[in-house]
Order: sequence, then structure tokens, then C-alpha cells
Amino acid sequence: MTKAWFKKRLNDHYLKQSRIDSFRSRAAYKLEEIDKKYSLIKPGMKILDLGAAPGSWSQYIARKTGGKSSVIAIDLLPIEPIEQVTILQGDLRSKEKQDEIRKLAPKGLDLVLSDMAPDTTGIHYADADNSIELVTAALNLSYELLKPGGSFVAKVFEGEGYSELLRQTKKNFDFAKSYNPKASLASSRELYLVARFFKPSQKSV
Ligand SMILES: C[S@@+](CC[C@H](N)C(=O)[O-])C[C@H]1O[C@@H](n2cnc3c(N)ncnc32)[C@H](O)[C@@H]1O
Repeated sequence: MTKAWFKKRLNDHYLKQSRIDSFRSRAAYKLEEIDKKYSLIKPGMKILDLGAAPGSWSQYIARKTGGKSSVIAIDLLPIEPIEQVTILQGDLRSKEKQDEIRKLAPKGLDLVLSDMAPDTTGIHYADADNSIELVTAALNLSYELLKPGGSFVAKVFEGEGYSELLRQTKKNFDFAKSYNPKASLASSRELYLVARFFKPSQKSV
């Protein structure tokens, strides 16, 4: 049995499990793995969920915190309502949407999550560049809105710009590392940048 065969079996498993658990997508298990490893999500937190459609990460947060968290979720696509989640629709990079987020988080955020993914072109370096652009937008907003000690998680398609992005992130957080969840598709070149203990003195990348 090859590694790809095992990964395919694992992918099918996560898909079936998401139906059993009534998650809107299998992506929930990636966040669950990240959360189990780094203990990021706790009741009482104010959390921003970027690239949130169809909504399984927000569902996971609402369940994990027993509804005792406050989540702002945004996506280009519409998201069906989720209890305790404020849903916005639009491009995270637009000033208009960023202003809406600022208004909804006047006292700052404990955690920023981004599962944003660009439309893929099949050209690896172009997809990676587009992904880095999305992560950079998410990071810049985080530098403005995260509370001291806050955390950041973002999906990245690994490419040329990633090592520089990681280096910059390490300047702004006490801890920054790449993490590759088992629940990621075998065919995917995605990984997650996990950064903890935000140091607010730094400026944007
Ligand atoms: C992999 S899906 C997210 C799955 C989601 N985490 C879940 O658990 O259901 C990636 C999402 O990123 C969104 N996206 C991509 N670029 C975006 C942008 N500039 N602003 C907001 N959302 C974006 C896409 O519309 C897509 O729905």
C-alpha cells in the first residue's frame, strides 16, 4: 500500500465523518487537529474566521466553546446562518469589509483564522503567489486587531514567498511554525502557518 493510498482512505474517512457530525465540510477536522495540537480555541474568545464558507470552522468553534465565543465570519460566498456567528459577505481585502470587521471588534480579537484559498489556476507558482497575497492581507489586519498575546492561523499554498513570510511572522509573534494536518488532501500542497503570542509593537509586512 502506498502513502497516496493511505491518504485517499483518510480523505474518504473525513468526508464520511463530516456527514455524520453534520459539519458543512471536512475542513472542520483540519481546524480540530490544529486546535488539539496548539489549544487555541477557548470559551469567551473573540475570533475572526476568514474564508469561512460554507462554515465548518465557525461550526467547530461554536460547538467547542458551547456557544460562549463571538465569531465574525467572512467569505466571498454566502454562508448559511450559524448561532453566535456574525456573517459578512465580500472580499476581505476590501477597505469596506475591513472597516465592518473593525467596527465589530472594537476591543480587538483573540484569534484570527484564515482558510482563504484563491481560485486555483493549476500553475503552481501563480497559485502560491495568490495564496501568499491572501495570507499577507490576513496578517496585516491581524497586526492591527489582535490583542497582545493573540494567535493567528492561516492556510498557505507553499511556494517561493513562504519562507520570507514565515520569517516576518516570527518577528511579530513569539512563536510561528508550519503545520500540516492529516486531514489535508493528499494532492494538496497546502500547509497552515500557526503563530502565537502576538507582540503588538511590530508593523505590517
Ligand atoms: C477552503 S474554503 C474555506 C472552508 C471553510 N474554512 C469551512 O470550514 O467551511 C476557502 C474559502 O476562501 C474564500 N476566499 C478566497 N478569497 C477570499 C477573499 N479575498 N475574501 C474572502 N474569502 C475568500 C473562498 O470563497 C472559499 O470559500
